Amino acid sequence: MKWDPAGYARHAGFVAELGVPLLELLVPQAGEAILDVGCGDGALTAEVAALGCDVLGIDSSPEQVAATRTRGIEARVLDAQQLEHQPDLNGRFHGILSNAALHWMPDQAAVARGMAHALVPGGRCVAELGGAGNVACVREGLFAALEQHGIDPHLRNPWTFPNRDTMAGHLEGAGFAIDMLELFPRPTKLPGDISGWFDTFAGVFLDDLATALRRNVIDSARERLSADLYSAGIWTLDYVRLRFRCHLP
Ligand code: BEZ
Repeated sequence: MKWDPAGYARHAGFVAELGVPLLELLVPQAGEAILDVGCGDGALTAEVAALGCDVLGIDSSPEQVAATRTRGIEARVLDAQQLEHQPDLNGRFHGILSNAALHWMPDQAAVARGMAHALVPGGRCVAELGGAGNVACVREGLFAALEQHGIDPHLRNPWTFPNRDTMAGHLEGAGFAIDMLELFPRPTKLPGDISGWFDTFAGVFLDDLATALRRNVIDSARERLSADLYSAGIWTLDYVRLRFRCHLP
């Protein structure tokens, strides 16, 4: 999926803001080497850098990596599912952070192995991603709207929202000891209209549709969802988070 950093900043600024609790779990210390897995536009990465850490952001999107670099942060175009195959990143980091990124990566076992590969012995990792049931209502409305217009959404689904047991299996399989792993609902208020959310986050479903068809699908999803998710001028989406802290023994 192609990311548009300007649209991301406009419609997804809340993602980094809501990622701040992860910093409290990671407790980055000045001078530590920290890896941000799926750094996006680097907004949260910049907060770690500001603490005096030596930070590297990785992201599979060249556009997002370019946006991260404009903040003066080192960043590399890299799919985290390939992290375990990067010899120069082996045992390089004291800590790893990942916010709202892992659910875009279907092979989360490979990501867990890659994170273990990149850490020093005793290194720690904190992450938050969409967990089982995440945006279930949004997904249902969008899928129904696509189907109504003759498009099969199941062939396009880019999201993997694991439950606790599945994620625990990936982490322990990679050699991590789990300190904390929780699944919790976090209803999330949007800064604007849900159509901006679709433009920013649902590109895989929509980007190859002709303009009028895309508009019709979004309008129809919007209409289906408004009774459940729109109130007093605000869209609140049914996010569910899976958050964990683990370390290498
Ligand atoms: C999330 O952060 O949970 C999310 C964002 C975009 C699409 C799906 C899930």
